[in-house]
Amino acid sequence: MTGTLAEGMPVRSSSSHRARNLLGSGLTELFLLARARGAIDLAVGTPSCPQTPGAMIAAAAAALHAGRNQYEDPWGEADLRRQIALSLNTPADPATEITVTVGATEALCVALLATVDPGDEVIVLEPFYENFLGAITLAGGLPRFVPLTPPDWRLDSRALTAAFGPRTRAIVLNTPSNPTGRTLSFEELNEIAEACERWGVTVISDEVYAGLVFDGRVHLSIADIPRMRPYGIVVGSLSKSLAISGWRLGFLRAGPRRTQLLRRVHEVTTNGAAAPLQYGASQAGVLRGDWWDPASELVRCRDRMQRTLRAMGLQCSTPDGGCFLLAGISAVTGAGAPEYVRQLLDERAVLVVPGTGFFADPARGRAYIRVAFNRAPDVLDAADRNLLA
Ligand SMILES: Cc1ncc(COP(=O)(O)O)c(C=O)c1O
Repeated sequence: MTGTLAEGMPVRSSSSHRARNLLGSGLTELFLLARARGAIDLAVGTPSCPQTPGAMIAAAAAALHAGRNQYEDPWGEADLRRQIALSLNTPADPATEITVTVGATEALCVALLATVDPGDEVIVLEPFYENFLGAITLAGGLPRFVPLTPPDWRLDSRALTAAFGPRTRAIVLNTPSNPTGRTLSFEELNEIAEACERWGVTVISDEVYAGLVFDGRVHLSIADIPRMRPYGIVVGSLSKSLAISGWRLGFLRAGPRRTQLLRRVHEVTTNGAAAPLQYGASQAGVLRGDWWDPASELVRCRDRMQRTLRAMGLQCSTPDGGCFLLAGISAVTGAGAPEYVRQLLDERAVLVVPGTGFFADPARGRAYIRVAFNRAPDVLDAADRNLLA
C-alpha cells in the first residue's frame, strides 16, 4: 500500500508491515451491489438454516436483565466451558483445556500468535478458508501451500511430506472444509499426525463445522487421535451450528500447558467474550440436549442446492459436512469465475463467490464458484426460481 493516511502521515512510516500485508476480501463491491439490487445472497455463510434456537435468545435476554453485564471469567463462563467439553467426542477438562473466545476468528489468531514466530512456515491445505492467510500474516508466518487433488480434494501424501521442513512451525487444517465440504479421513489425519510428530509441528485444526456432518458420519477431530494431543489445537465455534454468528462465540481446545499459553494471548486480545451471551448459550440447554440436530435439517438444503447446481450444468461433489459447495463451472462457461459470478448477479440476481480467493494462485480457482446452502426454504425456493428460469 502506498500514499498517505487521511491524517496526512505517509502510510509506510506510520503503519506496520503486517497490516500493510493484509489483503482485503475484494468482494465488498459485489456485496454492496447485490444488496442494493435485493439479490439472493448465497455468498457468505451467515445462516438462516437452522434458525437460532428461541430458548437461547430468551436465556440471553434473561441474563441481560439479571445483571450479567460485567466482566466474566476471561477463560469463559464455567458452565459454558463444561458444556462445550461435554459436546466433544473425547473428554476434555473444561478447567484447563477449554477457553471460550470471540468466535473462531479470535481463536485462530490466538492459536497462531501463540505458536508462530515471524518467518516461520505454516502449511495450509489448498483450497483454504480465506481468513487463514490473514491470521498467518498477522502472526508473521509464511504460508506454504499443499494443493488437494480435485475433484474430491484428497490429500496427496507426497505433496504433504514435501511441505514439511526445519522452518515448519504449524499446519492449519479445516475439517469439514470451507469451501469444499470435505472431511479429512482417519488415514489423512494420521499421515498429518506422523509428519507433525517427526518435525515437532503444531496442528491448528479449524473444526467450526464439527456439528454439521452428514450422511451418518461422525465428526473426526484431530483431538481424537491420541498421539496428536501434545501437538494439537482445536478451533471451534457456535456460530453456524447454533445460528448465532453475530454472538461471536468460539472456543479453543488444547492440552493444559498449551492452554496456559493460549490464555495469555487471549487475555491480551479480548480478555473474554460477551458475558450475557455466554450465559444465553449455556443456560438454554441446547449444547447439552439431544434435541438439537441442525445437520439433519441442513442436509436437505445441501441436497436441494446440489440438484439446482447440477440442473444448471455445474459439477459438484457431495459435501461431507459444513455449509458450502465448491462447484466447477467449466462445462457451462468459457469465462472465469469472477466473470461468471458477475453474470449470475446481473442476469439471475443471485450472488455467489468466485473460487479465486480460496487458492494461493487465483488462476487455479477460476474454474470454481462457492455456494452457501445454509439457507431457509423460502430463500432456496427463490434461488431455484432465479437460477433455473
Ligand atoms: C472455516 C471457518 N473458520 C472460522 C470461521 C469463523 O467463525 P466465527 O464466526 O466463529 O468467527 C468461519 C466462518 O465462516 C469458517 O468458515
